[in-house]
Amino acid sequence: MTYRVTLLPGDGIGPEITAATVRVLEATGVKFDWDICTLGESAIEKYGTPLPDITLESIKRNKIALKGPVTTPIGTGFRSVNVALRKQLDLYACLRPCKSFKGVVTTPYENVDIVVVRENTEDLYIGIEFASGTTEAEQLHDFISKHFKGKVNAGSGYSIKAISEYGSRRIVKYAFEYARKYKRSKVSAITKANIMKFTDGLFLTTAREVAREYPEIEYEEVLVDALCMRLVRSPQMYDVLVLPNLYGDIISDLCAGLVGGLGLAPGANIGDSIAVFEPTHGSAPKYTGMNKVSPMAQMLSAVLMLRYLDETNAADRMEKAIADVIAEGKSVTYDLRKDRDAPSAGTSQVADAIIAQLKK
Ligand SMILES: NC(=O)c1ccc[n+]([C@@H]2O[C@H](COP(=O)([O-])OP(=O)(O)OC[C@H]3O[C@@H](n4cnc5c(N)ncnc54)[C@H](O)[C@@H]3O)[C@@H](O)[C@H]2O)c1
Repeated sequence: MTYRVTLLPGDGIGPEITAATVRVLEATGVKFDWDICTLGESAIEKYGTPLPDITLESIKRNKIALKGPVTTPIGTGFRSVNVALRKQLDLYACLRPCKSFKGVVTTPYENVDIVVVRENTEDLYIGIEFASGTTEAEQLHDFISKHFKGKVNAGSGYSIKAISEYGSRRIVKYAFEYARKYKRSKVSAITKANIMKFTDGLFLTTAREVAREYPEIEYEEVLVDALCMRLVRSPQMYDVLVLPNLYGDIISDLCAGLVGGLGLAPGANIGDSIAVFEPTHGSAPKYTGMNKVSPMAQMLSAVLMLRYLDETNAADRMEKAIADVIAEGKSVTYDLRKDRDAPSAGTSQVADAIIAQLKK
C-alpha cells in the first residue's frame, strides 16, 4: 500500500529536517506518495497568505500531513498559522511524548516516559484579546468593576479564557483511549482549578466523570504549579498528562527539557479524521540552511505518524534506529553534545547514520 501524505516542509530549518525525515521514512520500506504544499512564510511568497486554501484542501483530502515548523508571520492578520491550522481542521488533541533515550548527555534524568496530551482548540488560545485603551477593554473594565468586589486597574488588557465541557470531554477521552491503546497505567488531569473554578474547574469535573469509564487506568488530579515542582524532582512519577491548552504548551517544553531538549521532542495534532505530525520546536530561523540542527524531533514525529497508520513494525524499527544512533553518540547534532562547540554531525549526516542503522 502507498500512503498519500501532504508534506509541508515549512520555514527556516523546516525544509532540511523534513528532507532528512523523508529519506529515513522511505528507507523503512513503507511507500509514500508526497503531496508537497506550502504553509507559513513560504506560502506568503507564493499565494499571499500563510495558510492557502490549496494546502488546507490537500490535508482535508489526504487526511494526514507531515509538517515542518513554520515561522509565525508578522502583520498578516494571523496570530499564529499553527493555531489557525489546528482550528480550521479541528485538530483538538496535541500529543507530545517525551521519552528518555540512552546516551543523551544533556539531561541528568533517566527513564522518563511521559505523554503530554494537550487540548488544542480552547483556553486562552481562542485568540480573543482586548488591548488596553480600546473601547472593548474599557467596557469590560466597567462590567468587571460593577460586578466584582476588589480592584481591577483601569487601562488593563484582557485575554479571554474559554473552556467548554464538550472540549474537555473529548480531550480527556482521547487521553484515556490513548492510555488504553498503548497500555499506559495512569492519567493525570492537570489544572489550576482551585483558582479558575469555572474554566479549569469544568475541565476537572468533566475529567473526573470520564475517568469513571476507565476503571482499569489510575486517575489523579494535580495542580499545575505542584506538577512543575514534581516533574523537576521525579518525572518518573508521571505517565499520561492531560491538560488545557496553555498549561499543555508550557509543560510539553518542560518535559522536552527533561529528556534532552527540543531536538528530541516530537508531536502530533489529531482530530476525529485528520492528523498532522510535527515537532514541538519552531523554525529556528538563525540556523536556516546550515545543515546544523537535529532532525530527530521531526523523525520521531514521523514515527508517531507510522504508528497512527498502524505501520507498527516500521515505527518500531525507525525508533530503534534513532535510539541506536543516539546511544552510539557519534552522529548526533550539537544540541546533544555537552560541549556545544565540540565537533558534531549535521542534519543530513544524522539521516545517513539512521538509514545505515535501519539497513543493518
Ligand atoms: N510548530 C511550529 O511551527 C512552531 C512552534 C514553535 C515556534 N514556531 C515559530 O518558530 C519561530 C522561531 O521560534 P523560537 O526561536 O522561539 O523557537 P525555536 O524552537 O524555533 O528555536 C529556539 C531554539 O531552540 C533550538 N532548537 C530548535 N529546534 C532545534 C532542533 N531541531 N535541533 C537543535 N536545536 C533546536 C535552537 O537553539 C533555537 O535557537 C517563531 O516564528 C515561532 O513563532 C513555530
